[in-house]
Amino acid sequence: MSTTAATEPSQERPRVLPPDETAIAQAAALITSGRLVAFPTETVYGLGGDATNGAAVAAIFAAKGRPAFNPLIVHVSDLVAAETLGQFSELARRLAVAFWPGPLTLVVPRVTNCPISLLATAGLDTLAIRVPDHTVARHLLSVCGRPLAAPSANPSGRLSPTQARDVADALSAIDVPLVLDGGPCRVGLESTVVAVTGAIATLLRPGGLARSAIEAVAGPLAEAGEDHGAPASPGRLASHYAPGLPLRLNATSVLPDEALLAFGPHVPVGAHLTLNLSPGGDMAEAAANLFAMLRTLDASGARAIAAMAVPTHGLGEAINDRLSRAAVR
Ligand code: TXA
Ligand code: MG
Repeated sequence: MSTTAATEPSQERPRVLPPDETAIAQAAALITSGRLVAFPTETVYGLGGDATNGAAVAAIFAAKGRPAFNPLIVHVSDLVAAETLGQFSELARRLAVAFWPGPLTLVVPRVTNCPISLLATAGLDTLAIRVPDHTVARHLLSVCGRPLAAPSANPSGRLSPTQARDVADALSAIDVPLVLDGGPCRVGLESTVVAVTGAIATLLRPGGLARSAIEAVAGPLAEAGEDHGAPASPGRLASHYAPGLPLRLNATSVLPDEALLAFGPHVPVGAHLTLNLSPGGDMAEAAANLFAMLRTLDASGARAIAAMAVPTHGLGEAINDRLSRAAVR
C-alpha cells in the first residue's frame, strides 16, 4: 500500500454543499448517472442512489462495506409513489397516512414487476419504504423523480451520521462525490421499521417514532423473532452503531479516564469529559443528541465511554436499543 495516504484520492473528502437549487440539481444529475449523494433526512443522513439501478445500489453496499444480505430502505415522495412499488394492505395504508412523511419505515410485499433493484431488497420479496420528513430530502426526491435507496451514510456497523461533517469524515469522495448539508438532523435516530406483510404489524427496529404512537393506530405490535437464519431486520444485529471506544452501560459513577454520556439532572462528577443527553430528561432531546454526543466522547481521548441509564419509555426504547448494541464488541 502507498504511504502517501493524505494525497491518496481515496482519502479525498466528499464535497459538502448547502442545499440550494444548484446543489440539488447537481445531486440529481449525479444520482441519475448512477452516482451516490449523501443527503439529510429528519432521522439521520442517508447515502442515496437510484433504487432502480443495480449498479448504483451495488455502489452503496461497497461504499458502506455493508453485507449484501442487509436490505436497504427505499425513499419516495408520497404514498402514491410508494403504492407503485409495494402492496399496501388496509393496515399498511393506515400507518402511512398517519405517519408519512415521518420516521416510520414500512416493510410490505413488492408489487409484481417492481422496478426496485433486487439487490436493494437483498433478494427478499418484501420492500422497506418510507417518505422522509425533510425539505431537502423531499426536494431531491422530486427533482430526481425516482425512488432513492438510502441507508444511513456511515460505514457499516458504525454510528449513524446526524451532521454533514460526520459523513464527510467517514466516506471518500471516490464513492460519494457530494454531501448536501441540511444541518443537524431533528430526530437523530433512524426510522422505526415495521413490517406489515400480513394482518398484524411487527416491530423490526425501534427508532425515531415511538412504539406507543404506532400502537395507537395499529394495535399491539408483534416482536420480530431473532432466532435463526438471516436476521429479520439486520439493524438488529447484536453489535451495531459502535463507537471506537469500549462502552459501559448503566453507569452510576465514573472514572477519571472515562468520558460520560449523562442523562437527567443528577450526574456523577469526575469524568474526563461529560456530555448530557438531556439534563431535563426530555426523550426527544436525548434522541437528537445521542449519536453526535457519542462521536464527541469517542474522540475525546478518554480510555472508555460510560453511559448512564436512560428510561425506556417513548423514544427511550430506541435509545436503549442503540446503546446496548453499541456496547457489544
Ligand atoms: O432513518 C432511517 O431509516 C435512515 C434514513 C437514511 O432514512 N435509513 C436507515 O437505513 O437507517 P439502514 O439501511 O441503515 O437501515 C435499514 C433497516 C435495516 O435494519 C434493514 O435490515 C431493514 O431496514 N430492512 C430493509 N429492508 C427490509 C426488508 N425487506 N425486510 C426487513 N427489514 C428490512
Ligand atoms: Mg444504518
